[in-house]
Amino acid sequence: MLEVSNVSVRYGHHLALENASLSVSKGEIVVVLGSNGAGKSTLIKAMAGLVRTEPGASVVLDGQPLHKLPAHRIVDAGLALVPEGRHLFSTLTVHENLLLGAFLPRTRDRAEESMERVFEVFPKLKQRLAQIAGTMSGGEQQMVAIGRAMMTCPRFLLLDEPSLGLAPLLTSELFKALPSIATTGTSVLLVEQNSHQSLSIADRGYLIEKGVITGQGTAKELLESEEVQKAYLGG
Ligand SMILES: Nc1ncnc2c1ncn2[C@@H]1O[C@H](COP(=O)(O)OP(=O)(O)OP(=O)(O)O)[C@@H](O)[C@H]1O
Ligand SMILES: [Mg+2]
Repeated sequence: MLEVSNVSVRYGHHLALENASLSVSKGEIVVVLGSNGAGKSTLIKAMAGLVRTEPGASVVLDGQPLHKLPAHRIVDAGLALVPEGRHLFSTLTVHENLLLGAFLPRTRDRAEESMERVFEVFPKLKQRLAQIAGTMSGGEQQMVAIGRAMMTCPRFLLLDEPSLGLAPLLTSELFKALPSIATTGTSVLLVEQNSHQSLSIADRGYLIEKGVITGQGTAKELLESEEVQKAYLGG
């Protein structure tokens, strides 16, 4: 279980995130929906220890406080991030990118086993191991980025707009893989603008607007809610 409470982030005078709180249970898929500039990446970066939070914030994973740890220790504690824009090593092969994900001492010895898990979730990657990552399609690169995060043997996976730049069909292929990650007990939190497709695979969701979490509900409730229809589903 991950519990995020009272997380605020300031960039200079700009309060980009204000007292954000949310929770995700083991094996759950939760989506945070928000439009451009709402604070989605800021929320994710705060959880991953990549931006400084204001005093009073706490992020606790299975009882272990993460908010005072440096970013690499947060990964070691089981929270893995797939950043916006993927950030692959584009001149290296798929295989090399995946292996770089297993950089921690506790994951290095399990790299082969972890890679088998990645192939179960994304069978396509097994045939593409020798391909240079930068030559793959956007959807395939996103699979590599998620695969690389899975190589850290995470208990919790954070995805920053995985559907960005992908055609609806590729997004759907990618999203369909997420439940198979969650069934093994790894929780997934994704932030998205793509509400329809993300809610269709999520258990629950939150809404974020101008740095503030303004609503929450089950995926079904949010899909049916008038507010979400208006703001995100073009209805
Ligand atoms: N390093 C920074 N310095 C100053 N302001 C920033 C910085 N990073 C983000 N911001 C501002 O904080 C707000 C939230 O940004 P954030 O990147 O979290 O939004 P987002 O919801 O991820 O948007 P997008 O959907 O475009 O990725 C925006 O107004 C943005 O301009
Ligand atoms: Mg963003």
